[in-house]
Amino acid sequence: MDQAIKSYKVEKVISSIEKLPTLPTIYVKISHLIEASDSTIKIISNTISEDQAIAVMVLKLVNSAFYGFSQTIGSLQRAIVILGLNEIKNLVLTTSILKTIKLFKSGHIFDLQEFWKHSIGCAVSARVLAETAYLKNPEEVFAGGLLHDIGKLIHATYLSEEFAEVVADVDETGLAMFESEEKILGFNHAQMGSVLAKKWRLPQETINMIAYHHMPDMPATLAKEIAAVHIGNTLCTALRLGSGGEKRIPVVNQKAWKVLDLKLNDLEYVMIRTAKLFEESISILGF
Ligand SMILES: [Fe+2]
Ligand SMILES: [Fe+2]
Repeated sequence: MDQAIKSYKVEKVISSIEKLPTLPTIYVKISHLIEASDSTIKIISNTISEDQAIAVMVLKLVNSAFYGFSQTIGSLQRAIVILGLNEIKNLVLTTSILKTIKLFKSGHIFDLQEFWKHSIGCAVSARVLAETAYLKNPEEVFAGGLLHDIGKLIHATYLSEEFAEVVADVDETGLAMFESEEKILGFNHAQMGSVLAKKWRLPQETINMIAYHHMPDMPATLAKEIAAVHIGNTLCTALRLGSGGEKRIPVVNQKAWKVLDLKLNDLEYVMIRTAKLFEESISILGF
């Protein structure tokens, strides 16, 4: 099917949903504040503190093994000074996503608990890959990993009958879920998720990480962030960190591997660190 027709179909589904969950206003506020040149650290930390659940989770993440600081960072103001505004914005995004995803009700089509473990597993392994390959924005890659399969949740929540068919087809044929979706729905969860991310006004990089996580060679120049999410998805599936409902381990695209420019022994390190950080993330993020 033509790409334009697929996009049209996805847009139509999204616009027909009346109560689509939105990101907490705190993320939008923080994004605006950071863009405005006259915002002070105090204003930004006070704004984050308006949402206590988010403020607490941001501080927990700052003090986790992801950053490995030797001393505890006790306040948001200090966290902003040490990590910088952009990193804090991405942490607010991560925690906002976690708050929002709890609003989706996917019924019984697939195991939500396993699905979120898979999403966190992909976020963690993509972030570790990003760090290991010296990308400049690992926290942004984490958010992309967290959201990579969000389209499946939209399908499960709002297209439940058709999606039940997709799940049955994956079980029966062993096709990748995006292939069964294309067969049955006419579009796939990567396209659906990227349209939602656009609607949430997330950065273009995040939208691309979602859109191309199964087809990392789609854009003319493949961004390293997309490659990290693509390989992260395979790694967390191979490590059995939760389940995204796939029957088989997704094949790694060679172009993605080349773009990240990692050595084979880097992979061993990535696997060990991913497994360790996954456990910690699950406990911090409340699963
Ligand atoms: Fe996927
Ligand atoms: Fe996935």
